[in-house]
Amino acid sequence: MADRNTTEVSEAQIAAHWKEEEYYYPSAKFISQANLVDADIDKKFGLDNFPESFKGYADLLDWYKYWHTTLDSSNPPFWKWFAGGQLNVSHNCIDRHLDKNKGKAAIIFVPELEEEQPVAVTYQELYVRVNETAALLRDYAGLKKGDRVTIHMPMTPELPVTMLACARLGVIHSVVFGGFSGMACGDRIADSGSRVLITSDGYYRNGQIQNHKEKADIAVKRAKELGAQVDKVLVWRRHPGKYISSTPMVNGRDYFMDELLKDYRGKRVAPVPVAAEDPLFLMYTSGTTGKPKGIQHSTGGYLAYVAGTSKNILDIHPEDIYWCMADIGWITGHSYIVYGPLALGTTSVIYEGVPTYPDAGRPWRIAQQLDVNIFHTAPTSIRQLRKLGPEEPRKYDYHFKLMVTVGEPIEPDVWRWYYNEVGKKEAVIVDTWWQTENGGFLCSTKPALNPMKPGSAGPGVPGIHPVIYDENGDELPPGTQKAGNICIRNPWPGIMQTIWGDPDRFVATYYAKYCKNRQSKNWRDWPYFAGDGALYAADGYIRILGRVDDVINVAGHRLGTKELESACLTVPEVAEAAVVPVVDQIKGRIPEVYIALKPGVSLDHGEVQKKVVSAIEDIIGKIARPSHVWVAEDMPKTRSGKIMRRVLAAVSNNMDVGDVTTLANPDIVEHIKIMVQSRAKREASTGTPEDIKRFGQNE
Ligand code: WTA
Repeated sequence: MADRNTTEVSEAQIAAHWKEEEYYYPSAKFISQANLVDADIDKKFGLDNFPESFKGYADLLDWYKYWHTTLDSSNPPFWKWFAGGQLNVSHNCIDRHLDKNKGKAAIIFVPELEEEQPVAVTYQELYVRVNETAALLRDYAGLKKGDRVTIHMPMTPELPVTMLACARLGVIHSVVFGGFSGMACGDRIADSGSRVLITSDGYYRNGQIQNHKEKADIAVKRAKELGAQVDKVLVWRRHPGKYISSTPMVNGRDYFMDELLKDYRGKRVAPVPVAAEDPLFLMYTSGTTGKPKGIQHSTGGYLAYVAGTSKNILDIHPEDIYWCMADIGWITGHSYIVYGPLALGTTSVIYEGVPTYPDAGRPWRIAQQLDVNIFHTAPTSIRQLRKLGPEEPRKYDYHFKLMVTVGEPIEPDVWRWYYNEVGKKEAVIVDTWWQTENGGFLCSTKPALNPMKPGSAGPGVPGIHPVIYDENGDELPPGTQKAGNICIRNPWPGIMQTIWGDPDRFVATYYAKYCKNRQSKNWRDWPYFAGDGALYAADGYIRILGRVDDVINVAGHRLGTKELESACLTVPEVAEAAVVPVVDQIKGRIPEVYIALKPGVSLDHGEVQKKVVSAIEDIIGKIARPSHVWVAEDMPKTRSGKIMRRVLAAVSNNMDVGDVTTLANPDIVEHIKIMVQSRAKREASTGTPEDIKRFGQNE
């Protein structure tokens, strides 16, 4: 059969399977109160008005010095937004709201244990806490503008307090998701060159205290192995004055924040004006090679973009109670728990724990108790809540005006449950497609202006001009029925600035593929390549199909295949490893591991499998735990010796492996198939051709 697995054929297959969904319309009630009701908005944000179209977003902020150039595009693709401008994020998210709203809740913290009551932190209290923390970071930890600091913390108010204290000083924060392992944290400390690690002793998850501090010791050790010295580890305590970790504090290195802060009571720190293009933070994300990329975001462009999109797409008004269930350790949490909502002066809810603790009614009780009216989550949580409590939302009296889904494609059926049950047919849904690299939303419907279509993210948001290219760089216009690679034609203020310390990788990863002329100084020649497959419907709505690179999206979290494989290879008995995504009803995808052992290994297979699982958990974190580790005699390989992940992915997902006769060792495929498919009570799997396609790339 001719090349049945080339990108083109697989994508066409996806297209053929896609059924058009019907539209859902926003209610008159929603429209009557919406921020964005200007029917000419797309025209105003048209490419004819670019880049001045984004001026309105920057005007949502306070500037110490107004910018002179909206977009300096003289050195593509290193865009400089609002060049010449100066501002401070902490001032914009806190100080400027005090005049009118000092007594209003900025943050409402909901502890996981239901017997602990929610705690509101007013804008005034946030101001005091951020000032005192900033004074400590400056005077005790010696941090100043441009320094990097790694923050590895769970979902407590101290996390945004710490981020905002850094921003007040112009210190660049690098928040590492609390669920990541100490090793993963150590890698990121070393890459960012942080001398200070800010962490916490522990937190509650599924009703259990998690020992978080132990990860700090591993992180510091790992960073040291990589040549980076951490001088201070600052430890927030979940219950001030009471240490809930069993890991000892290291003398002369580790300090309790609540104790140090006693010396900074009442201290105020003037916000440090920074240039619009000074970095605000780094956020590490997985890419196609083993090493995570430090995505560097700007201050002015980023804050303007998250404020503008929070207003237009999330429809945040200052009087709303807004709850995003994401973790602040991911980009969604940075942009749409902390920076966007607080820049607009609204109330942002922070929930410590898992959505289903102690039962699947928890989120709806929280919504009812706090009278949340905007709700933001990911398909993986929606699927879980539907599975465990399909009728739970009905039991509670809350009313959402708007709900968000983000992080992975949502199945139309799951979308309808979200709409009918969670949203009670009242709430508008925005399916927002974007990435760590983008700062804020790229595609979504405009909630009061466009109808919703289950499973489709919608058109580009105002000012974002998507284009879908095939492998040859030809455009696939709306209605083509053929999928391709989604790109964005134009720069926008929230776009990343570079990869920390690796500008060449930045250009290679995001621009090289479709830039026709690397010498060009015209931004039109530099479309941004997102790395997602997508399909443009005739109505201009975009359906995202998933990653086209070696990234597995597990429950909305990006894991690099190569990172996982490298972790497997740290087990001495393992000779080769291949990781593939398996379709999972709740999490979307889960990694499944295949290993081949070194000759002469006498260890029991069960033991090796356990070692592989714990290597993955230690090096990356529990979120990466594989569904299964298969020990194979050999890996299916091409004649040039490349492991055929595509074949393994097909086996794992109970799909046709296609023609394998050209492999160097076709017989091995049959062996692996018998081993895998005889697995007792394997959940019925519905892999998509896209899983196979995405692993067909390098072969
Ligand atoms: C996927 C999360 C479909 C996509 C904000 C992207 C989505 C990756 C959606 C980025 C969506 C995100 N529909 N797929 N609404 N949102 N994705 O960097 O594959 O953690 O490339 O950013 O998630 O994940 P990241």
